[in-house]
Amino acid sequence: MADIGKVLRERLAAAFETVTGSTVDPALRRSRHADFQADGALGRPDARAVAAAVVAAADLGDLCANVSVSGPGFINLTLAGGALAQWLAAAAADPRLGVSTVEPETVVVDYSGPNAAKEMHVGHLRSTVIGDAAVRVLEFLGHTVIRQNHLGDWGTNFGMLVEHLRDGGVLDPGDMSAFYAAARRRFEADSDFQERARRRVLLLQAGDVDTIEQWRTVVEISRVYLMSVYDRLDVRLRETDFAGESTYSGALDDVVAELSAKGLLRESDGALCAFPEGFPSPLVVRKRDGGYGYAATDLAALRYRTQELHATRLLYVIGTPQRHHLEMVFAVARAAGWLVPPARAQHIAFGSVLGTDGKMLRTRAGGAIKLTALLDEAVARADDPAIGIGALKYADLSNDRIKDYTFDFDRMLALSGDTAPYLQYAHVRVRSIFRKGNVDVPIAAFTVTHPAEHALALELLEFPGIVREAGETLAFHRLTAHLHAVAVAFSAFFEQCPVLRAQGPVRESRLALCGLTARTLQVGLDLLGIDVPERMLHRAPTLSAATVRRPLAPGSPESPRGNAERDASHTSCTP
Ligand code: ARG
Repeated sequence: MADIGKVLRERLAAAFETVTGSTVDPALRRSRHADFQADGALGRPDARAVAAAVVAAADLGDLCANVSVSGPGFINLTLAGGALAQWLAAAAADPRLGVSTVEPETVVVDYSGPNAAKEMHVGHLRSTVIGDAAVRVLEFLGHTVIRQNHLGDWGTNFGMLVEHLRDGGVLDPGDMSAFYAAARRRFEADSDFQERARRRVLLLQAGDVDTIEQWRTVVEISRVYLMSVYDRLDVRLRETDFAGESTYSGALDDVVAELSAKGLLRESDGALCAFPEGFPSPLVVRKRDGGYGYAATDLAALRYRTQELHATRLLYVIGTPQRHHLEMVFAVARAAGWLVPPARAQHIAFGSVLGTDGKMLRTRAGGAIKLTALLDEAVARADDPAIGIGALKYADLSNDRIKDYTFDFDRMLALSGDTAPYLQYAHVRVRSIFRKGNVDVPIAAFTVTHPAEHALALELLEFPGIVREAGETLAFHRLTAHLHAVAVAFSAFFEQCPVLRAQGPVRESRLALCGLTARTLQVGLDLLGIDVPERMLHRAPTLSAATVRRPLAPGSPESPRGNAERDASHTSCTP
């Protein structure tokens, strides 16, 4: 099923072509003056005349109640209630709510990527939350998605860590930082330990059986810790998605050989470097001491993803500071023929997490924040994991991901404003209407007459287009903004239109609108990895001054117990 915006766009494009004899983007968008506005005629000397001719030529009779030209040549479109009702019925009859699948691709999503033997930090949290939303949206659209957790489990640090383990250091999955800190302290203070750690790295790289076994212990315990975090976050990363740096250690010699054979490496200062065009500095592929680093591993991983996994779209959900590194890796891979169209790689970059003081998130004492402590606090404050974790994910995803985002428990947990609890609450309200009215069969008989019904219908019908767009741009704040708009439109509808007290087909249709709203919120939130609770009993509305839009009266739709009483006390709402 196509979405209504797409059909309008197609019909207008056809009319523009008839009128102008060329392809014109109708530039259709939602509008405050009508339902939609098309600006495709603007910028032409005869814009108003073209717009009028397009209106005359366009085949919109079955969709629009009114089409007019205003200003310098805007085309204003108001949809007909009957058309909205038909589209709503089709969406409601579809388990996918009208979101069609797309031409499937194999997509690799590289996300989370924490480092073994260390605590996950908030940057890894962002990657995990954003990457998981990407996985869910892309899977929903029909792609074959391969999750890859590029765990930092290889490299010189592991000499020190294995040596510390051999000396009796205890690695506790409940407290990852202690072990690492202790090893580090010894490495810095004790030159004998330092020397042993250096030798241990060589043994590790040479595949010494004993050393490998101890290294594996370190990685295994890290995995237990990480899985416990993923479990709490309710993300789709599984043990089998771990493809750490060590996975590629056996392929690095070959990567270098292939790059050399293709003439892409030059020696510089004893190191083997690639000099991709347009970059000021080289990419060090093999260090002077013969060791390999982060760059070589990423080249091997990329080659594996396109050549072995046959992925055509590679997504790297990594913070903005690694942009330069990734761009160089992509450039070298292109030169090597590992990233040939249609295959392409995209850096899904994101900003830093800031505290409410505008600085990098820290504990009050100035230390690094423990991720598990953040999760504990979110859940404790919300009194419900679905709400606490949901709020935290939503706060991250509702922010333009390129920008830094401010971590603020009060704001993310507020029951009003652009928050997960607000959307979850809208969903809970519908569920409670259904319980009160003893409605359990899905109803799909719509009539759209009241302006608030019209406005809600418009929002609901935008969902398919928004989801498809999210699959392209991975700009999830557009999806959250849409879901928020649905909840706001629902609030206005519920305030103005009695549901259970209405009669006959009006009641049926309003129940159906409630039902489709609930499903849209539930499916939409699920695409973001956010659960909807069946009830929200434990929390009084948190009304922080910053997020309240208007004063709340008792029994207003924002009040948790308000809807039933309010619905019963309705006196006027005539469509
Ligand atoms: N372990 C890295 C870090 O903590 C992130 C890995 C991201 N993925 C990649 N293919 N480089 O910064």
